[in-house]
Amino acid sequence: MQIAIDGPAGAGKSTIAKKIARDLGFVYIDSGALYRAVALLALQEDQPPEEGPGLAAFLDQLTLDLTTDQAGQQQVWANGEDVTEAIRDNAVSQRVSAYSALPPVRQLVTDRIQDLAAQADVVMDGRDIGTVVLPAADLKIFLTASVEERARRRVDQLASQGDQVSFETIAQEIADRDEKDRQRAVAPLVQAADAVYLDSSHMGIEEVSEYILGLIRK
Ligand code: DC
Repeated sequence: MQIAIDGPAGAGKSTIAKKIARDLGFVYIDSGALYRAVALLALQEDQPPEEGPGLAAFLDQLTLDLTTDQAGQQQVWANGEDVTEAIRDNAVSQRVSAYSALPPVRQLVTDRIQDLAAQADVVMDGRDIGTVVLPAADLKIFLTASVEERARRRVDQLASQGDQVSFETIAQEIADRDEKDRQRAVAPLVQAADAVYLDSSHMGIEEVSEYILGLIRK
């Protein structure tokens, strides 16, 4: 069984996808984490986001993996190193769109997550899961929320980690990232024709996940 959850940054995809995976006993696959891992390693190795022999060689020697530890937490691996924490750095968040727009990067990540999805029942989240990665998914959700609501959630999350940031800055970053993800030539962020549209601006986590679980049971 395959459940695909797509949507823009900060709509709550990963929280919801993790919860649904836990409730159903499925494996959660965070596709964005692998794009982040590519960007992190590329930044560390001074590999710019440009197609060419340099990028091809870099991708050729790159291995990516996702595992789940005993507490049910997902771990992200790149070239055998645990990069779970490092991929959440702001530097990575700001640069990842440039790498995820490149066709060879998309090919590498898509192949890897299709492999993972072939091995278990999965809940996978991302931008192109319902359209490109798992076009035959049993259920596709397009989960979104207003830019303001997504910025508010992000500001609250950062504040809880002790980081004070301005709402305007975060809202602008989110709007910019949405724009890049929607406008890119390859696998842009777009709702699949057969996806269920869900706006979570005025819905809590419980309400959204109960709604999706209801659709799965049906
Ligand atoms: O969901 P996230 O913020 O961790 O995603 C990181 C970046 O990867 C984001 O810029 C969009 C991109 N991405 C993508 O292009 N396709 C996916 N399936 C998942 C993420």
